[in-house]
Amino acid sequence: MTLLGKKIVLGITGSIAAYKAAYLCRALIKKGAEVQVVITPAGKEFITPVTLSALTRKPVVSDFFTANDGTWHSHVDLGLWADAMLIAPATAATVGKMANGIADNMLITTYLSMKAPVFIAPAMDLDMYAHPSTQANLDKLKAYGNRIIEPATGFLASALEGKGRMEEPDRIVEQMEAFFENQNQWAKKKILITAGPTYEKLDPVRYISNYSSGKMGFALAEVCAERGADVTLISGPVQLKTHHPRIHRIDVESAAEMHKAVSVYFPETDAAILCAAVADYRPASFSESKLKRKDNETMVLDLVANPDIAAGLGKMKKENQVLCGFALETENEFSNAEGKLRKKNLDFIVLNSLRDQGAGFQSDTNKISIIAADGEKADFPMKSKKEVAADIVDFLFHHFVSSRA
Ligand code: CTP
Repeated sequence: MTLLGKKIVLGITGSIAAYKAAYLCRALIKKGAEVQVVITPAGKEFITPVTLSALTRKPVVSDFFTANDGTWHSHVDLGLWADAMLIAPATAATVGKMANGIADNMLITTYLSMKAPVFIAPAMDLDMYAHPSTQANLDKLKAYGNRIIEPATGFLASALEGKGRMEEPDRIVEQMEAFFENQNQWAKKKILITAGPTYEKLDPVRYISNYSSGKMGFALAEVCAERGADVTLISGPVQLKTHHPRIHRIDVESAAEMHKAVSVYFPETDAAILCAAVADYRPASFSESKLKRKDNETMVLDLVANPDIAAGLGKMKKENQVLCGFALETENEFSNAEGKLRKKNLDFIVLNSLRDQGAGFQSDTNKISIIAADGEKADFPMKSKKEVAADIVDFLFHHFVSSRA
């Protein structure tokens, strides 16, 4: 009953598979969902708004306004109203417009305003589907956090056979139910995430830090919040914004401040993901005035160790709390990561290697392996940080949370 009461915007585009949208509407409504159809002009050539409004008991939205009385149809309101948007069937043209923000119809403007998760069920001829431009657009949409409902392989309207048929309505409904079921589980969870670098002040104008951008931790926060969790994101200084209202962001500067904030929130946390690149050392003393250049050829800085936040939490951790750390390595990657996993009493560790191009600090992509304390290992290909975040969160969910829920 996970679709009961869910508000779904169903986007329909100009594909022969649009005739299946009537069945899809009924299947969603039978599960208790409320459906609002938004159809493109080409979609109306394949299925009439009368059929769809009769099924949904709502006027079908297609234009920006009603011509005879000027009533404005707000795509922004639809974006706020929905619990999910499903575009089925999604043509190659619509996929391309979505990927590139070409907002020339009501469906695309609604998509661009959408606050809720978006599901896309492509439907097209096999060659159109396989074309590199379609695949690149789908990859882009995935990287933005949309969920692609893979088309099935079989008989196509072109009389050819191959991959491109829109997934059957019942299977689409099953995938949406599974998503909301997952979200219900997450709704009970409190997740703590650390992100970004720390700044360790030396004098009023200088600090010690590292190249961490915070992108991975922020992507994790967005994914956890989208799944329904309450997220506390404790971040060092970064140039990033948070978007989801379920993210409670706390900005800190130094490792000591991060440690203090983490200690306050950890006892109430179900899982902590420690993504921050915490400086291991800080200057032994802070100079109130700017340190001046001297005539010496060398300068020696005294540093003292910062607290190891992860190791501290590993000691505090209770039976039902999950602790996930990160390891960014340049050599002996697996043995170093496994060493950190044991030493800090983590449940699993996400390893990224600086030897992989496109992985690590600053980049928008990452390539990870996950090593769990129980011996399970998983390797993932290079992906956007949003997709990597989804893989980590899936691992967290399946490996630990579901068994304890
Ligand atoms: N970490 C932490 N507090 C620190 C140092 C690291 O919480 N003072 C956490 C990181 O957030 C990460 C994990 O520990 O989840 C591993 O961090 P990393 O810097 O790779 O390991 P270190 O223990 O600092 O070892 P080294 O820098 O020597 O590789």
